[in-house]
Amino acid sequence: MSALMNILQDGRFHSGEEIGALLAISRSAVWKKIKRLKAERGVNIHCVKGRGYKLADRIIALDPPGYFSGEHLSWRVDVLQTLDSTNAEAFRRLAASVPAPFAIVTEQQTAGRGRRGRIWISPFGENLYFTLALRVDQGIRQLEGLSLVVGLAVVNSLKSVGVADVGLKWPNDVLASGQKIAGILLELAGDVADACHVIIGIGINANMLNAGQEIDQKWTSIRQLSGAMIDRNVLLSELQRQIDGYLGRHSAGGFSALQAEWEVNHLWQLRPVILSSGEKKITGTVVGVDSSGALRLLVDGIERKFSGGELSLRLQDDS
Ligand code: BTN
Repeated sequence: MSALMNILQDGRFHSGEEIGALLAISRSAVWKKIKRLKAERGVNIHCVKGRGYKLADRIIALDPPGYFSGEHLSWRVDVLQTLDSTNAEAFRRLAASVPAPFAIVTEQQTAGRGRRGRIWISPFGENLYFTLALRVDQGIRQLEGLSLVVGLAVVNSLKSVGVADVGLKWPNDVLASGQKIAGILLELAGDVADACHVIIGIGINANMLNAGQEIDQKWTSIRQLSGAMIDRNVLLSELQRQIDGYLGRHSAGGFSALQAEWEVNHLWQLRPVILSSGEKKITGTVVGVDSSGALRLLVDGIERKFSGGELSLRLQDDS
């Protein structure tokens, strides 16, 4: 966190004079820095004549870089201030031969990526933007159902920080009170038949109250649901603990060992849905998932299976 953000993060007013004295710069240099923070980082700062500068909202900063040490896996966690996308950064590090596993979190993304080419709104200091890069060393089996398993880890971390009524929508949307609270984007680096890595990107809406721009689906955040600000460091450590636990179970037993648990957490189990793949639409009832994580749908009395990243699900009665 920059020295200026450190001063401002309490959410109180600080005069240009006070900031100037603390940073040993002139008042006009303070003003320039404030303008840059607003323009380049999208940080919402109120500037009031006679009072000074104040963050629109208090920020609990992410902790400095560290190390996660779990029961099954351990990895280095780098905390950055701003990035285009934590997934894009993981690709760059792998291309530069940084050994996996490693994790990246950032205070802000300027080009956060969502599924199906969407953007992921990633304002400074508000939410959690996390990526874990893993080596695929157990062949294709390691990838089977992996994105669904990551969904279970996210749901359980949300439950453990007090979010109620949270569950999954196939394949890995995380919904709380019927609205999207987290998203998961898995990407592959390299060739599955050869040396390859999986990049697990997770975005959790933590303290966002106002997205600042239109999001084309109903969304919520932990803070919106609880009314209280959450320390993202607590959420991050719980998320990593859950991921480590679920990766261990997945690696030991494959997705079939977690299939029943996934279905218990599937919010749309037995619901009538419409499955879309581009222009193509299929109407059916959700039966569950199979041992590879494919969606089982009852279509005209016949059970059919669907898998693939471009598929999306909505309820038939969702007006
Ligand atoms: C979705 O569309 O539901 C998936 C959203 C995934 C967003 C996360 S935020 C951290 C990581 N970096 C990205 O650019 N995207 C993922």
